[in-house]
Amino acid sequence: METIHTIQEMRQLRARFRAAGRAVGFIPTMGALHDGHLSLVTAARQECSHVVMSVYVNPTQFAPNEDFSRYPRPFELDRARAEEAGCDVLFAPTDAEMYPARFASYVNVGDVTERLEGVLRPDHYRGVATVVLKLINIVQPEKAYFGQKDAQQVVVIRKMVDELNVPVALEVVPTLRHCDGVVMSSRNVFLTAREREHAPVISQGLQRARDAFQAGARDATVLCDIVRECYERSGAFKVEYIAVADAQTFEEVAAVDRPTLLLVSCKTPESGTRLLDNVVLDGAR
Ligand code: PAF
Repeated sequence: METIHTIQEMRQLRARFRAAGRAVGFIPTMGALHDGHLSLVTAARQECSHVVMSVYVNPTQFAPNEDFSRYPRPFELDRARAEEAGCDVLFAPTDAEMYPARFASYVNVGDVTERLEGVLRPDHYRGVATVVLKLINIVQPEKAYFGQKDAQQVVVIRKMVDELNVPVALEVVPTLRHCDGVVMSSRNVFLTAREREHAPVISQGLQRARDAFQAGARDATVLCDIVRECYERSGAFKVEYIAVADAQTFEEVAAVDRPTLLLVSCKTPESGTRLLDNVVLDGAR
């Protein structure tokens, strides 16, 4: 695996792949790689002859009060894991490469970035869309891979790619979970032992709502209340939101009468870690 840090080197490598007629699969990450990231590499390996992963903790998607400075950066470990999983290239640009002085061009994807996560993190998706577009322009992959774990991010990026005619196919890979149902996330390292013990309640609440959906419940309030009651009974988190949203627009809906997502975000009391999860409730089936 080659590790490169500059846009120029990345472009040279890309030109080599293109000359050889090879399809490139791209996995953008912020490092602190876990098995969820590596499942994206496995998916890319099956479909592409070359796999490029970026590791870049993007400052523009963090608000000043968020965890940018303490975001885990185990670079050597990431490098070893990326190589072992089958990456051909690790692209780890510096801030100076990505955001030179007087940088001022941002991508705004509109309404979908203002809902749910966008209410709690107002400039977050502007930073995500900007860096993802820059990375796609630098790497120029045929396919780019994202996890369903960050469902709203997937919708934002899909809309950006469609509306700005970005020549890349997006591939969405199912969320990977630990055996107790907890979503794999780089931020799980922040959880205290007690918080980690309670964390399975997040997916259990969603599972209960999904069972009710499968038994015929379609009212969004009823489904959200099932989740809320489960979380309140545990007393382990502060609920930030529980919502049923249209899978395309992320507008909240009153009834599951189309493809939707049931999405939750909770904050833990000791470390203040945010735990996000979602399940698909496809009312159109
Ligand atoms: O999902 C992430 O890790 C980040 O938001 C991404 C897509 C790598 C952009 O920085």
